[in-house]
Amino acid sequence: MEDLIQKGSHAAPATYYILIQKDGPYLVYGKPPVNQEILTPDATGYSWTYKQGNTIENTEEPIALCRCGQSKHKPCCDGTHTYIEWDSEETAGKEPLLSGAKQFEGPEFILNDNKKYCAVARFCDGYGDIWHLIRKPATDVEKEIIKHQGTHCPSGRLVLVDAKTGEIYEPNLDPSIGILEDPVMKVSGPIWVKGGIRIQSADGSSYEIRNRVALCRCGHSSNKPFCDSTHIKVGFTDEKKKTV
Ligand code: FES
Repeated sequence: MEDLIQKGSHAAPATYYILIQKDGPYLVYGKPPVNQEILTPDATGYSWTYKQGNTIENTEEPIALCRCGQSKHKPCCDGTHTYIEWDSEETAGKEPLLSGAKQFEGPEFILNDNKKYCAVARFCDGYGDIWHLIRKPATDVEKEIIKHQGTHCPSGRLVLVDAKTGEIYEPNLDPSIGILEDPVMKVSGPIWVKGGIRIQSADGSSYEIRNRVALCRCGHSSNKPFCDSTHIKVGFTDEKKKTV
């Protein structure tokens, strides 16, 4: 069966892909760069940019990234998943993200929003939030803010469209992996899969290919393999393990 590709996204070269292991880690193929990326706020206090942190050396292929949240060598897998109890079940559907999205229409932009995929990275919340900003005619400055907010969400929950031309705003992202850190919330965040890397379920089928995807690495999402922001509730960090 042909892979689904989200409108506005492009598939990465086929050498890049992620295999989800049944009851095990994410196996990352193609040696994409893997870097810590730190959510960084602007003066409003809401996320605005990503600051690059440590690089995770990936000389081996595949690199195994922890999915249970309990490896002692996070973000890499150390085999802990084999002797602990954790819920590894993939519960997310394979349908396109946009088919479950709500549409918010304004004079200049249409905002597609599928809340199930929210990683609470808070790029959308500044300046009165993107949902309010798109409702009325926007100044040039506001248009730039709206485009920035709509395209920096790591999970791709928000898909921004030009209301007049139908153009989808997607950032140009090379195939790469970000290990998100969220110092404002004092937690570690999901795995940010960028640039259309295909993700294959443990059942052998693939999820829709998207430019921006946030994969759960705390082990607690109820929409696995995708992050649903539960890492904040459980206080997930790379440093030490906390429980719900
Ligand atoms: S990393 Fe976000 S819910 Fe697990």
